Amino acid sequence: MSEAHCQQQRIMLQNDLLLRTLRGEQTERTPVWMMRQAGRYLPDYMKLKEKYSFFERCQTPELAAEITIQPVEQVGVDAAILFSDILVVPQAMGLEVQMVEGKGPLLPDPIKNGTDLQRIQVPDVHEKLRYVFDALQLTKKELNGRVPLIGFAGAPWTILCYMVQGKGSKTFDEAKIFCYTQPDTAHRLLQMITDTTIAYLKAQAKAGADVIQLFDSWGGLLGPDDFENFSLQYMRQIVQALKEEVLTIIFAKGAWHSLQPMAATGAHGLGIDWCITPAMARQLAGDKVTLQGNYDPAKLLSPVPVIRKEVLQMLREFGGHRHIANLGHGILPNVPVDHARAFVDTVKEFSMVGSH
Ligand code: CP3
Repeated sequence: MSEAHCQQQRIMLQNDLLLRTLRGEQTERTPVWMMRQAGRYLPDYMKLKEKYSFFERCQTPELAAEITIQPVEQVGVDAAILFSDILVVPQAMGLEVQMVEGKGPLLPDPIKNGTDLQRIQVPDVHEKLRYVFDALQLTKKELNGRVPLIGFAGAPWTILCYMVQGKGSKTFDEAKIFCYTQPDTAHRLLQMITDTTIAYLKAQAKAGADVIQLFDSWGGLLGPDDFENFSLQYMRQIVQALKEEVLTIIFAKGAWHSLQPMAATGAHGLGIDWCITPAMARQLAGDKVTLQGNYDPAKLLSPVPVIRKEVLQMLREFGGHRHIANLGHGILPNVPVDHARAFVDTVKEFSMVGSH
C-alpha cells in the first residue's frame, strides 16, 4: 500500500486502531470488533427484519448502512463490517440463493458436475454487485470517519461448499465428494469463484472498505493437504492480488494447522478460533502478522462478571501487541446486547489501565 494512501486514511479516521494494529504498529490499546456483529442479536435489526426480506436488506444501501452502523453506536466496536452476505457472490455468478427463515441459505439448483458450470459465469461485478459498492460508499459517508469499515467475501472453498451442497451442513460431505471425485471440475469452479472474488474485493476497496476479511468458515473440514489444494491456494491468489491495495485478514475456522502457510501469504491479519491458544497460534504464525480472536462466542451467554474475567485472561494471553480482540466465530443470535457490550468494554478498559 502506498504511503500516501495510508496517510490519507490516518487523517480521515478518528479511530484507526484496527488499521494500525494490522500494519504492526504499537497502539495505545487493543482494537475490538465482533464477527457477525451487524444483525441478529440487536433489537433494532429485528425491527427492520420484520419489514424487509434478507436480500432487500442487503440490496438497499440505506438499510445496509443503517444495520452496519448499529453496533458502532450501540455496542461501541472499533470497526464496522458491512451488512451483506458471502452468498451474494454465487448469486452474482448466476445461481439462485434463497434465505429461508429459521433454516438458513438454500440454493435450489446446486452445481453437481462439469455441465452445471455452463449455468454460471464470472460476472461483471460492477453491474451485478453494484448495490454492495453503493452500500459501502453510503456507509463510509455516514460513519464520517468514526471507525474503519471492513468489507468481506467468503473464501472460494466455503463458497464452493454452498454452491455444491446447496444448503448449510455440518460436514459438507457432498461438496467434499465433488472435490475428491471430480477434482478438475472443482478446480475450474474454485478458479471462477476466485476471479469473481478478486474483482469484487478490489471494487469494495475502491468503494471505501479499509480492510477486507476472507471468511473460510468451512476450512476446518479439510485436512492440511486438501486445505492447501482446495482452499489456501485460492486465498493466496486473492491476498496477492489485494495486499498492495488494502489491508487483508484471513479467517479460516478450524484450520489452525495451516497458520504458518497462511501467514506466508502476506495477509496482514489471521483470525483464530478458541480451539487453539494464543501462544500456540503465535508460535505457528510467527511475529510478522496480526492475530484476531478468539473468544468462544457461546461464552457470551455467561454472566457478565465471568465474561469480564475471561476476556481479561484472553487479552493477557495475547500479550497486547499485534492483536485484534474478537470472537472465534460469529456472535450468536441469543446473546443479550449488554453481554456484547461487556465484551467490548472490557477490552477498552483493560487497555486503558495499561496492563500490557
Ligand atoms: O456483522 C456481520 O458480519 C454482518 C454481515 C454478515 C452476514 N453474513 C449477515 C447475515 C456476514 C459477514 C456474513 C458472513 C457469512 N454468511 C458467513 C461467514 C461467517 C460465518 O459465520 O461463518 C457464512 C457461512 C454465511 C452464510 C449464511 N448467511 C448462513 C449460514 C446464514 C443463516 C444462519 C445465520 O448465520 O444466521 C446466513 C444468513 C445471515 N447472514 C443472517 C445475517 C445477519 C441471518 C439472517 C437474517 O437476519 O435474516
